[in-house]
Amino acid sequence: MTSDPNSRPYIALPFVPHGGDYNPDQWPETVWDDDVRLMQEANVNIATLPVFSWVKLQPDEDTFDFAWLDRVLEKLWAGGIHFCMATSTASVPAWMDQKYPDILRVGWDGVKVKHGHRHTFCPNSANFRRLATGLARRMAERYGDHPGLRIWHVSNEYGNTCYCDQCAAAFRVWLQARYGTLEELNARWYTAFWGHTYTDWSEIETPTANGERSVQALLIDYDRFQSDSLLECFKAEAAVLRERTPNIPITTNLMGAFKPLDYHSWAKEMDVVSWDSYPGKNQPYSGIAFNHALMRGLKEGQPFLLMEQTPSQQNWQAQNALKRPGIMRLWSYQAMAHGADSIMYFQWRRSRGGTEKYHGAVVEHAGVSNARVFQEVAALGKELKALGTQTLGGRVAAKVALLFDWDNWHAIEYSSGPTVNLKYLEQCVAWYTAFHQQNITIDVVSPEADLSGYEIVVAPVLYMVKPGVAERLTAWVNAGGTFVTTFFSGLVDENDLVFEGGYPGPLRKLLGIWAEEIDALAPAQTNEVVFNGAAVGLDGTYTCGLLCDRIHAEGATVLATYGSDFYAGEPAVTVNAYGAGKAYYVATAIDDDGRVAISQALCAEKGITAPLADAPEGVEVMPRVGPDGATLLYVLNHNAQRVRVALPEGATFTDLIGGASVSNTLELPVYGAAILAPA
Ligand code: GLA
Ligand code: ZN
Repeated sequence: MTSDPNSRPYIALPFVPHGGDYNPDQWPETVWDDDVRLMQEANVNIATLPVFSWVKLQPDEDTFDFAWLDRVLEKLWAGGIHFCMATSTASVPAWMDQKYPDILRVGWDGVKVKHGHRHTFCPNSANFRRLATGLARRMAERYGDHPGLRIWHVSNEYGNTCYCDQCAAAFRVWLQARYGTLEELNARWYTAFWGHTYTDWSEIETPTANGERSVQALLIDYDRFQSDSLLECFKAEAAVLRERTPNIPITTNLMGAFKPLDYHSWAKEMDVVSWDSYPGKNQPYSGIAFNHALMRGLKEGQPFLLMEQTPSQQNWQAQNALKRPGIMRLWSYQAMAHGADSIMYFQWRRSRGGTEKYHGAVVEHAGVSNARVFQEVAALGKELKALGTQTLGGRVAAKVALLFDWDNWHAIEYSSGPTVNLKYLEQCVAWYTAFHQQNITIDVVSPEADLSGYEIVVAPVLYMVKPGVAERLTAWVNAGGTFVTTFFSGLVDENDLVFEGGYPGPLRKLLGIWAEEIDALAPAQTNEVVFNGAAVGLDGTYTCGLLCDRIHAEGATVLATYGSDFYAGEPAVTVNAYGAGKAYYVATAIDDDGRVAISQALCAEKGITAPLADAPEGVEVMPRVGPDGATLLYVLNHNAQRVRVALPEGATFTDLIGGASVSNTLELPVYGAAILAPA
């Protein structure tokens, strides 16, 4: 069943949900009262539970124990804490793995895992599905009418892929539904290559490390199939929850740019997108923003929930730095600026044992509230409380979109040649950053999304062009849109089968070019992109590398040429006038300055400007339009220095954080944030 995002609530709270993962089953009951008291002190209003309590809720197949959870919920609710109710099916009980070994997944290496860790189930295990939906049904029956229940949190961070025999059998069924006949499959997979033709469905196996990994179309389909299989697990639990509680929204926590799962298809089944943001070491703020934009784009702009972030540090990096004072608050407001309607943490209380005992938590091992992290959380909670509903439900209004596609990601990175150095995500983040660092609001959406509201669409490395995409892009450009794509685009169809008749295949007419050859450069090797001044604002010379397409203009205007090598003087950047619009081709990986120059030229041409002119470097400015039509301007200082931000002359704003009236200049302290509303 697909949920209709417009007919179902995404979360119904008259305040910003602030809280996070709570694992009371790790603690004696005497601690629970303390937890509720401390939650109140931290201005926490929501708890996610019980995420990993399957064995405690169901100690054997016929025994269920909800009494302890009843007591926890009673205490929480008495303390005014709402629930993000987990179905608790992410960590399979040991007895279950022992009784039903088909639940244990087989790894990429072909080896069946033993019981341990979490997220270890085979998504095609019938026993898993039966037992997981059984628990979800009981949770819904028991807690469906609880006044504290706000949202269902199914499982946790799905992502376990499996290569077992029951997955092989289910894969064959999936393939039969997709291709109908084996002849069709052989043709679409191009199995004639190296004589890989299948003569019976039973010959198709899972692509384990020691198995068939040379048929790229199979690998891509296996990724699709595994993503679909896990999605079936989510859908099965969601269906039983929905039956019992049709008005409670359902989510599962996603992980940003997580390669194995095609979140565009997942989001269609979720009432609200929620995700866990764990920025990497030294990740620039535009990289964090990219992930927020990707998650926001899954449901075409519907607000999402920040389900998890660490209040202080992680435990799974090589070195787990503390978030510096103010950073957690800054990144929380950044999430809100990009569409988050909640601020939640992993986790409430630091565990005494187990893998995550050194992972950050609101309450650390000392168990006290007079600690830096607790105080920062409590202070943020107080600010959020004061915001009330003012920030909720807002939409980010972008005129620029970047196309992102999971199948394309897989296909590019399975490709043997032309270079191992091409990383799709890196290219997408680089193009996103070029716009975002100038505070040009930019969405990240599926190539299947409605593009009608956008004026510029950037599709970095659109290698795989799925059916209908070229036609829709062409119609959109024809109607006035500005399209930009890059090297290594328009090569293959949805089965990784190269288009006949020259690159960029179905985009050739739109772009007005033919890409004849693709040169791969060594990591330290560069060429130059020399602009000839043919387009406003595009002049000068930039460095490029990675891949250089040798292209011919077939109607397109040449804006830049290569500076060296045997293709010196040949086109490197082109633009093709098409109908009322334009299509740009950037034939090589131009450097950051070059990407910025191109994005500036395009925005200038389209009259797209940053919400605040001349904001200092490192100051992020994001507009979010509320349900009442008023624009809230999030101004975020990512610098370790104070900044002064010039505001439009004559305008007066109210900073919703703190309520001060501001005009002329906004002063922001180190890592400071403001939410400006028209006064
Ligand atoms: C993920 C999981 C949590 C926890 C955190 C630690 O987000 O969902 O259960 O393991 O990572 O960073
Ligand atoms: Zn399996």
